[in-house]
Amino acid sequence: MTASHTLDMLARDQAHLLHPLHDPAAHRSGHVWVHGEGAMLVDAQGREYIDGLAGLWNVVLGHGCRELADAARDQMATLGFASGYCGSSNPRAIELAERLAALTYPGINRFFFTSGGAEANETAFKVARSYWKLRGRPDKTKVISRQLAYHGTTMAAMSATGIGAYWPLFEPRVPGFVHIPPPYPYRAPAAPGKSYGLAMADELERAILREGADTVAMFVAEPVMGVGGVIVPPDDYFPRVREICDAHDVLFAVDEVITGFGRTGKWFALEHWGVAPDMIQFAKAITSGYFPLGGVGVSDGIARALDEAGSAWMHAYTYSAHPVGCAVALRTIQIIEERNLVAETSRKGAYLLDGLRARLGTHPHVGEIRGKGLMCAVEFARDAVARIDFAPEERVGARIHAEAQARGLFSRIRGDVYLLAPPFITPDSVLDRVADIVADSTRAVLG
Ligand SMILES: Cc1ncc(COP(=O)(O)O)c(C=O)c1O
Repeated sequence: MTASHTLDMLARDQAHLLHPLHDPAAHRSGHVWVHGEGAMLVDAQGREYIDGLAGLWNVVLGHGCRELADAARDQMATLGFASGYCGSSNPRAIELAERLAALTYPGINRFFFTSGGAEANETAFKVARSYWKLRGRPDKTKVISRQLAYHGTTMAAMSATGIGAYWPLFEPRVPGFVHIPPPYPYRAPAAPGKSYGLAMADELERAILREGADTVAMFVAEPVMGVGGVIVPPDDYFPRVREICDAHDVLFAVDEVITGFGRTGKWFALEHWGVAPDMIQFAKAITSGYFPLGGVGVSDGIARALDEAGSAWMHAYTYSAHPVGCAVALRTIQIIEERNLVAETSRKGAYLLDGLRARLGTHPHVGEIRGKGLMCAVEFARDAVARIDFAPEERVGARIHAEAQARGLFSRIRGDVYLLAPPFITPDSVLDRVADIVADSTRAVLG
């Protein structure tokens, strides 16, 4: 198709679509994606791009996966939808819940399914509030989350999200959501005194004591912050978080919407630190993005409280436990297992990080190259040694993003942080090209 055909489609798009993060100026030079194969995406002009963020961190098995298409088609032909409301179930949902009980953290054995990540977080907030009410502590309602966290954009998930740009047009935020600073090792003080990880975990305890432990229902955190900039915590952070939550009767809910199902080199990311949560929220990779499905797993103690409530738990979505979504999820998990992709993300992530470091490790404007598994970021800085940022007006991240697109790599940025999370099946040769393009684009903008 020609450039003018694409312009025509974009004009029709602008006449009739409102997009997530709607910004007509940015959209004018947008892509119309028409085809995908493996780690590659093709737009309406026939231009091919490496899908550097696996869609939106979700297309872990890559594009054009016939097995997932077959799983969806077979299930649609057998039973395309059935209510998952109490009194109804379906075999695929039962099988998926059994599978997740075996795969996720040992004390998590009961699952509620949603259509995506924000609904999973909304559900977690409501689980926490209902749990404490059922346990006779109705004032425990507050949710503590972290600055730079991303938990989705529905009202409560947006209120837990700690990136301020998501708030202004939609305020007031839901009351009872409190933010603490996250550990951000790149920005740690030079001489923190005690361990930086412990000091940042203690921010949680300070917030619980300030708010009053009797008012705090839960703490929610991504194990590795994704949208905020692929921020990997120090090893001692989450073990201490677990201790603090236990000491103050605060539920610990882990948002594994990006990190779940192998992205960081473990099936679930808190496994890196030997920590187990009270709840886990997941979405994205569970269906490799081929069907909108998410959910929450809850601890046996929480499940017991809901079982013993004596009245209905009035929380529900039409598409909870969607049989097609569950069938696609089962097949996705099977493929991740059969192809040993969790170990592969660990190896490929190290390979990509090495490649980026070899090409950019000594660049004066590269502040940090970091990652965990196949989830990486390059953070740019005016002064990489003193860790001084560029002014936002310089739009360094956006310019590097544009240069990368011109060279055939499509991903996302957060400010001056370039984010990478390609599909798990990305060949090493394509990872080499990713590292080349990021390095060439950096030099094109920053010399
Ligand atoms: C960690 C995390 N939680 C929640 C969400 C929201 O998921 P969804 O967009 O499916 O509502 C996202 C989306 O990127 C995410 O990265």
